[in-house]
Amino acid sequence: MGRLIIDGGEKISGEICVQGAKNAVLPILAATVMADGVCVIKNCPALRDVDKTDLVLERLGCTVKREGNVVTVDTRGMYDCRICEDLMREMRSSIIFLGAIISRCKKAVVSMPGGCPIGLRPIDLHLKALRELGVDIQEEHGYIKCTAEKLQGGNIHLDFPSVGATENIMLTAVCAEGTTTISNAAREPEIVDLGNFLNSMGARVYGMGGSVITVHGVEKLHGAEYTIMPDRIVAATYLAASAITGGEICLKNVNPQDMGAMLHVLGEMGVKLRCEADRIMQTAPKRLKSVHTIRTMPYPGFPTDIQSPFMSLAAMARGTSVFIENIFENRFQHVDELTRMGADIKVEGRSAVVRGVKELQGANVVARELRGGASLVVAALAANGTTTISGVELIERGYENIEKHLLNCGAKIRRE
Ligand code: EPZ
Repeated sequence: MGRLIIDGGEKISGEICVQGAKNAVLPILAATVMADGVCVIKNCPALRDVDKTDLVLERLGCTVKREGNVVTVDTRGMYDCRICEDLMREMRSSIIFLGAIISRCKKAVVSMPGGCPIGLRPIDLHLKALRELGVDIQEEHGYIKCTAEKLQGGNIHLDFPSVGATENIMLTAVCAEGTTTISNAAREPEIVDLGNFLNSMGARVYGMGGSVITVHGVEKLHGAEYTIMPDRIVAATYLAASAITGGEICLKNVNPQDMGAMLHVLGEMGVKLRCEADRIMQTAPKRLKSVHTIRTMPYPGFPTDIQSPFMSLAAMARGTSVFIENIFENRFQHVDELTRMGADIKVEGRSAVVRGVKELQGANVVARELRGGASLVVAALAANGTTTISGVELIERGYENIEKHLLNCGAKIRRE
């Protein structure tokens, strides 16, 4: 496993151009199979998860070409409708291909995606909704076998505003007969990006970003060119990296309006923020203030994906902060590692009480999952001494060139 070695104590200051959003590009790449043509996806980040999605596309018979941050997908050669177990297990978010493949082929076979370090990650909401759209689903021997004589629009109500379930329903509904409404839909900006991409392919999807999405079925979709939105979680991670070191940073290619809850918390902790259309300037105090309570919620609430990087901020802030993780049942694995660095954190079920300490010490720590790994990077940048973070491949699933960006902003960091 690769490692990051960080000598803490340097201010993280400078300029970063933020990458395209992982959680937008993954469903959008899956959606390309719905057009029998060529799609050009711009601002596509270079990430392990994107590479794996490209591999799924190639295994389906598509050709994928990358030139810099532009990925061209030609789906005219698509000949398969199955995603094998190894790929599904490697990246559970491949479940998002289900709706896209069914739309194109009227059948699909994928293996149960299984859980991951942050939770069981069930897909009951996905399957219940697809059945309501006319998909026959047989779950046997760990595989999900789907067939659809005819996809029929319908009124779907989600018990929980699941991001993945909302995306799968959108993909299945765009070429279904009639109209589909999704109530209690996820409102994340990545859902808006997917809907805008589908509409650029000739779909008729309305209401994205609200809790009711309407899809009017169309005959077929065509190839399109699309630019992926900026990654709001990566942007907030870099703001945290600068804030914990008392630095001054300018982020370019960001959408501040997608980051309201995160920017509000950073302001409460004492940073000064100036936001323009596509950039954020942040100046941090010598020491941050604690935040009384942070509750992770579906968008526009505080995102679960930034919970762990912001817990590192709280670990060194003045005062006590309480984090309540409402979305995933096992998203505090970074706590043990932060404790090794001297953090004072007590976990009780879905709550973590963080008493800020003046100093963290460098230590050997392990990234257990993507965002927990990012929280260790944030902590290491401010820790006294050297921190070795193993499992860097997990961090590279979502952060493009993280050590290069931090190096350019003054970090003493290297990858082994
Ligand atoms: C997406 O995961 C993101 N992944 C996650 O980001 C993100 O944390 C999550 O949305 C919430 O915002 C991608 O977009 C690739 P959900 P997803 O369905 O779609 C329960 C990262 O770090 N649920 O909104 O899997 C589920 O167990 C990743 O970038 C069901 O019970 O999230 C969880 O408790 C991590 N049944 C909650 O809903 C279902 O059928 C939220 O899940 C589906 C979900």
